[in-house]
Formats: sequence, C-alpha cells, structure tokens
Amino acid sequence: MNYASYKNLPMLAGLCSMEQAMQPGLSVEECVTRLKRYHYGLKRLSQIFIARITSEPIYELKSAFSLHAHYCAEHVTELRKRVGEMREPPLGLENIPDSNLEIFLDEILSAPTTEALLLGLYENAVPALIRGLKRHREQTNPLADAPSDRLCRFALLELEDMERFGREAIKQLIDAQTRDSLKNWLDLLDSLLTAAGDLDGTQPKPSPSGKPLARQFSAKGYKFDGFPKRDERFPDPYNMGVNAEVFLYDDTFPPEAKTLMMFYKRLREIDVPEMMASIITETPSKPWSYYRDMIRQLWDEARHAMMGEVGFVAAGVDWRKVMVNFTWSMALNTQLKPIERHAVLYFIEQGLMPKTGKRYEWEVGVASKNPLAATFQDYDWADEVLHARIGRDWYLKEFDDPREAVKYGDECWSKVLMGWEEWRKRGLTQHRNWWPDVYKEACARWGVPPDERVLKYNTTYQEVRADLKNIAASG
Ligand SMILES: [Fe+2]
Ligand SMILES: [Fe+2]
Ligand SMILES: [Fe+2]
Repeated sequence: MNYASYKNLPMLAGLCSMEQAMQPGLSVEECVTRLKRYHYGLKRLSQIFIARITSEPIYELKSAFSLHAHYCAEHVTELRKRVGEMREPPLGLENIPDSNLEIFLDEILSAPTTEALLLGLYENAVPALIRGLKRHREQTNPLADAPSDRLCRFALLELEDMERFGREAIKQLIDAQTRDSLKNWLDLLDSLLTAAGDLDGTQPKPSPSGKPLARQFSAKGYKFDGFPKRDERFPDPYNMGVNAEVFLYDDTFPPEAKTLMMFYKRLREIDVPEMMASIITETPSKPWSYYRDMIRQLWDEARHAMMGEVGFVAAGVDWRKVMVNFTWSMALNTQLKPIERHAVLYFIEQGLMPKTGKRYEWEVGVASKNPLAATFQDYDWADEVLHARIGRDWYLKEFDDPREAVKYGDECWSKVLMGWEEWRKRGLTQHRNWWPDVYKEACARWGVPPDERVLKYNTTYQEVRADLKNIAASG
C-alpha cells in the first residue's frame, strides 16, 4: 500500500493505523447489543456494591465498594448516552439482555459471606466485563465506532483498578479451604457465564441441554440487610460519649485540638454510605440519573471518612481508640422509610451550608496551621455544596414548597429514637469518654503539653441532643 499522509503526519487523527481502520468491524446493531450487555453488567454491579456496603463489616471493603459502585455508575451513564446516540427510543436499557446473566449477577448479590462476595465480584463479574470490553476494542472499527471505543478504553482503566484491588483483597482474606468450600457455587457462576456466551454474549454457547441452571444463593431471592456491621476496630459502636460538635463550636477551645474532633467527624461519616446505601437499594424505579447522583454522593461520604482516617494517621493517633459509632445509620435504617431517611439527610446537609457549618470547619483547619486538616475541610465543604445540589434535585422536587421539605426532614429526624440511656442499660455501651486518651496521644506526638481544660472535656450526646438535635449527625 503506497498511501502516505501529508508530510507523513500521523494518519486518521492519530486514532489508529490505516490497516486497522480498513477492518469492517462490528455493525451498529452488533455494537449496540454488546454495549447494552456491558451496561447491564455495570448497572447490576453498581447496585450490588451499594447493597452490600451496610452489612459488610470490613471498613476497607465498605470504602472500596463505594468507589467501585461510583466507577460502575459513571460508565453506565456514558454507555446510556452512547446507546442513545445510535438508536431511537425506546432504547431498551431497562431490559434484561440474558436470563443466565441475570442469575449470574443475582447469585453474586446474594453471596452469603464476604469471601463469596469478593470471589463473585472480583474473580468473575469484573474479569468478564474486562474480557468483553477488550474484545469490543479489538473487534470494532476504531474509526467508525471511535466514540464507543473511547468509552471502552476509559471503562477498562477503572475496571482493571477494581480487579487489582479485588485480587489483593482476596489474597489477604481468602484461604484455599474457604475457596474450596465454595467450589460448587464458583462452578455454577462459570456455567452461567458460559450459558450466556460470556458477559458480552459473543462466545459460543453450549447446545441447550433443556435443563436450566438451578439458582443456589439467590434461590430465595435477595433481602437487603440494613443493619450496619463494623469490623473489630470499631469495638464500641453505640458509644455516644464524646460530643464533637459542642467542642468544635466552643470558641474557647484551641483549633489544634479541634482538628482531632474534625477527623473524628470525618471518619464517622462512614455511616453516611451505610445509610445512603439503604435509600438507594430500597428506592426502585427512579430515573438513572437519580442513582448516578446518589452513588456519587455516597462515594464522597466514604472519601470523607478516609480523609478522617488519614488525618489520624498523620497526627500519629491510633484511631481504634476513637469510638467511631454507627448509631446514626443504624437508627435511620431501622426506624425510617427510605424517603424519611432522605429527608433527614437533606435536612442535615442544608444545615451545613450556613456560616456555622462547613465554612467554619475549614476556618478551624486553616487556623490550626495543620495544612492537611485545611485541605480536607476545604474539599469536604466543596463536596457538601454538591450534595446540597443533589438534595435539591432529587429530594426537594418531591415537594411544592421547599420549606415543607425542610420541615419534613426536621420532623423525621426528631422522631428517630436514639436510645442513649437504653443502650447503656442493656450493656451495649458505657459511653466511655475516649477523648482524653486520644488528645494525650496527639499532644505527645506534637511534642506539646496537653491543655488541662481540653483534657477535661466531657460532654456527651445525651444532654445536648434535646436542644441541638440536629448537630449530633453526620454530614
Ligand atoms: Fe463530609
Ligand atoms: Fe454530604
Ligand atoms: Fe458528609
């Protein structure tokens, strides 16, 4: 072929070689059919990650599920747009493309243990998606189908990150014996994918034997578990013995000590993904953009929790001594309906916007001369601005009068019973004051003597909640 570009410039906008562009590749019909299968896989995966956050005890997995749900949801959004570019409505994006694929994903959703869930997600579903996207890139015409190729390329970047995380997690958490005990189920997952012609549906299917594959873990249907679980580094999850907000808003306490309370508040935000997961999972039939926005916010909240974790590590404080409770997500998930939980979230988050909220926390970070605290509060604040917007778009819209929406949130929050005294009586917690130990540890690290007044701080969430009922909350 003696074709040359002008002055041998890269051809075809640098997209691909002439040879590659001369391969006919996939038809639009075939392309759309495949995209819809990736879309289905990613959508179901985002839902599975979300549904399993609350009841997953391991904090690192809660955070990773939050991120991975967000990745999946972002690619779902792009794939929906792309299908819409190539086809007129109805696009059929809510259809189930393959019943074996449906059972495959139902089985993973219903995995009875963390171990089974990890194997299903990261050794089966995610690699199947990666295979499909790679085949798409190899087989489609890179010029004609450049927009899809681009989406596949970006999706692969993050799916490979997810797979890497999963591989590491499995290595650390799952031994040969556990894996062996799941052999029948893992074989079923294999058979389901094979019967589906792989996730993308391109592989030869075994000739139908007439016997459909029997469900195992999903035989009884999936039931969402809204009771939050935590790993052993959260030994006192009912502890409401240290009121972070009263300390934070007291002008007589120094900003350096307040950064510790802010890191506590950030780390405690892991209860927001636990709670939002229940709203998302128990609110079906919303437009896709609702789920996309809510999952983005959920990921932000998990990220804020990790900023708190990093803050403690940077301060040289062992955060296991900080009693990070789950009382908020536990109470909301077990006492309120999904819309009521959303109302509480909106009520709290719109209350963070005035001067006393996120701006104040950022100012404390700046005043503390702890640049990390300032950075974290800066972004926490920016994210909360987005969350207020998401709340306006999806919660406020349900009301004619915005004041009614706020009032309803206040009412829902007021009716939540926080059993401070009851939990103590039942022996679930002593509401032990963990603050002096944590503060002393930080002072030792900072090389300064503890301030006696700060050390003596001893205000719990019991006595203050009646007046400032909305401050003992995650945001
Ligand atoms: Fe936050
Ligand atoms: Fe938020
Ligand atoms: Fe938050």
